[in-house]
Amino acid sequence: MIIAIDGPAGAGKGTLARRLADYYHLPHLDTGLTYRAVAHMLLMKGWPLGDEPHAVEAARLVDLGHLDRAVLSAHAVGEAASKVAVIPEVRKILVEKQRAFAAQPSGAVLDGRDIGTVVCPDADVKLYVTASAEVRARRRLAEIEANGGAADFAGILADIRRRDERDTGRADSPLKPAADAHLLDTSEMDIEAAFLAAKAIVDDAVAGGNKT
Ligand code: DC
Repeated sequence: MIIAIDGPAGAGKGTLARRLADYYHLPHLDTGLTYRAVAHMLLMKGWPLGDEPHAVEAARLVDLGHLDRAVLSAHAVGEAASKVAVIPEVRKILVEKQRAFAAQPSGAVLDGRDIGTVVCPDADVKLYVTASAEVRARRRLAEIEANGGAADFAGILADIRRRDERDTGRADSPLKPAADAHLLDTSEMDIEAAFLAAKAIVDDAVAGGNKT
């Protein structure tokens, strides 16, 4: 079984993907980490984010077995990732690696921006997870504060809106729901409620509910 989860930054798709992967005993790939790894490599070397030859080289070096979430989860790396993610050759290389992960005999859960549309168009279940920009900004602020950091709501909201624009507006594989994706708006849900709603959709799909 392949579960494809897409949605904008901060919608809760990562948490949901991990919960579903645990529940169904499937390996999980957060594909955002692969774009973050490319951006991180460029930042470390001091190369510009629009430097295509170096970005392509970095994409080739991405190893799915060595994606360090602690290092890659920094806010600045996420911003930089959405900039390198517009480079078609980078996407081509990373998509190949993501498809290889999805092809494991056990099946897999993948989350990102283009899983249901490009990486795994034949996924058994596709979820498109959203929440209003304000709710996503509030969650992000709470997360930063819980980790002992400080940030201001207006700045985070502006960042989220800018990232949405970049992710939905790029020419190659823009963020959008697949035609056959199930929409899940988590604005009014906590993690548990979102998990139960997602699980109900997956169980229904497994039972053939989406194939009639
Ligand atoms: O989900 P995230 O915040 O870790 O993703 C960081 C950036 O990577 C995101 O703004 C756009 C890009 N990305 C992408 O283009 N396609 C994916 N499948 C996953 C992430």
